[in-house]
Amino acid sequence: MSSTVDLVIFGASGDLARRKIMPSLKQLASRNGRTLRIIGAGRSEQTQAQFRELVGDSSGSEALASNAEWVRLDYADPASFAPVKALLDGSPSSAIFYLATPPETFSDILGAVGQSGMAIKGDPSRSIVVEKPLGHDLASARKLNTQLAASFDESQIYRIDHYLAKDTVQNLLALRFSNSLFEPVWNRNLIETILITAAEEEGIGLRAGYYDQIGAVRDMIQNHVLQLLALVTMEPPITFDAEYIRRAKRLALRSITPLDPAFAVRGQYDGYLNEEGVAPDSRRETYAAARISIENWRWDGVPIFVRTGKALKRRATEIVIKLRDAPMLRVAGRRQRGIPTLIVIRIQPDEGITLRIGAKRPGVRFEMVPAGMRLDYARLSRSALPDAYENVLSEVLAGGHSAFPGGEEIELSWEIVDPLIKAWESEGYPEPYPQGSWGPQAADDLVGSGGGGRWIVSGDEPGTA
Ligand code: NDP
Ligand code: BG6
Repeated sequence: MSSTVDLVIFGASGDLARRKIMPSLKQLASRNGRTLRIIGAGRSEQTQAQFRELVGDSSGSEALASNAEWVRLDYADPASFAPVKALLDGSPSSAIFYLATPPETFSDILGAVGQSGMAIKGDPSRSIVVEKPLGHDLASARKLNTQLAASFDESQIYRIDHYLAKDTVQNLLALRFSNSLFEPVWNRNLIETILITAAEEEGIGLRAGYYDQIGAVRDMIQNHVLQLLALVTMEPPITFDAEYIRRAKRLALRSITPLDPAFAVRGQYDGYLNEEGVAPDSRRETYAAARISIENWRWDGVPIFVRTGKALKRRATEIVIKLRDAPMLRVAGRRQRGIPTLIVIRIQPDEGITLRIGAKRPGVRFEMVPAGMRLDYARLSRSALPDAYENVLSEVLAGGHSAFPGGEEIELSWEIVDPLIKAWESEGYPEPYPQGSWGPQAADDLVGSGGGGRWIVSGDEPGTA
């Protein structure tokens, strides 16, 4: 028998809904005997026909367009949510509420959804999806968690961090825990440093209204980068079920010491102040790098460096695990320099993994050269890698939680970044860096003097091209 899933999208007229959510729904419109109905809700004046056209245009699905519904409401007026409830009551369906509106509206919407009786705490047929930003500091993140918990159990809540839904990020678990080769080296005994780069070539574009309030630490480090770090450094989960993956990540995050401004660098790209909508005297960082310490048995003493920024040399999100040098290599009485082994996990673009090793250069002489063993992730699949939002929504529809951070992880991550954000808000200026560079020189010095050697991105490092 066919059942309906109602997806109530608050903010369905917005950029995210049109560019990311709707296109990802095309493949999911009807699956496993279940039909998806989009109920768009928001302040916009538009007719049913106009909304159906919007759904059709952005999703490319006639099926989704033809049964979509539009409800005009005022987020601050709970009574105006009644037509949404009437639609839900009128069909024996499960319902997913999707907050795709700016965060200042979350509180009103959650209040109205709760008061109206549309949310039923503990009922798995009612769930909620919340977009980032999940708070702007620890206090606001706690408040949001409390508001969510008033109407929904943790098992009914999906907090989006689209990095967790990237295939290459999910493959981190497979790399670490389905290969007996890696786990024995994955600790302080053999790993010298971990370097994470999340670099973007684009500037802030037209997003000044959002970005100039937020900056790189809140936008990327608090969520995506710390989630990557948690997956790379966590203990093996007992099973790959969401509950155990989340538990392992929580413990990893709990071991990370709060970021220290003395070991962090903030930058702002040249020309940022001229971007439309940016305050002329803005001190907002478009680049951040930090040294991170993890105080636990596995990682004690291993320096970890993360960096992220806009308007950098090229788009590259990569995790580099650098192993300690081999003890020595004596050839014909001469000591030869070893070549440090690198495990380079290319999250994007050019998704895959490179194991950089030392090899003998072919020829008579015994000479070492860096050489790469490469896995190109796209070659594992006949079809293109799915968009992260497609993975997100298919997980939500399937009721799976492994690609979503839990509420406690969000709070732990804010605990880590809050001291840095507060320090930067109260003092100093970001260092300027040229667009198209790898960021401020100080970030190179941070790694160099902190025991990390230098930043590494594949292509620039011998043996990783
Ligand atoms: P928009 O600014 O496009 O807003 C979405 C919709 O929310 C609007 O169409 C509008 O709908 C309603 N809205 C906008 N401003 C207000 C306001 N001040 N008060 C009440 N309602 C308002 O945002 P996006 O679609 O870009 O983003 C939505 C959410 O998703 C945000 O939380 C954002 O941080 C997050 N996000 C967005 C990404 C993106 O690529 N756009 C990426 C990652 C996260 P109506 O007028 O019909 O009510
Ligand atoms: C978003 C940030 O969460 O992630 C953006 O708000 C950033 O500023 C984006 O550009 C990067 O995502 P991706 O998938 O393009 O690496």
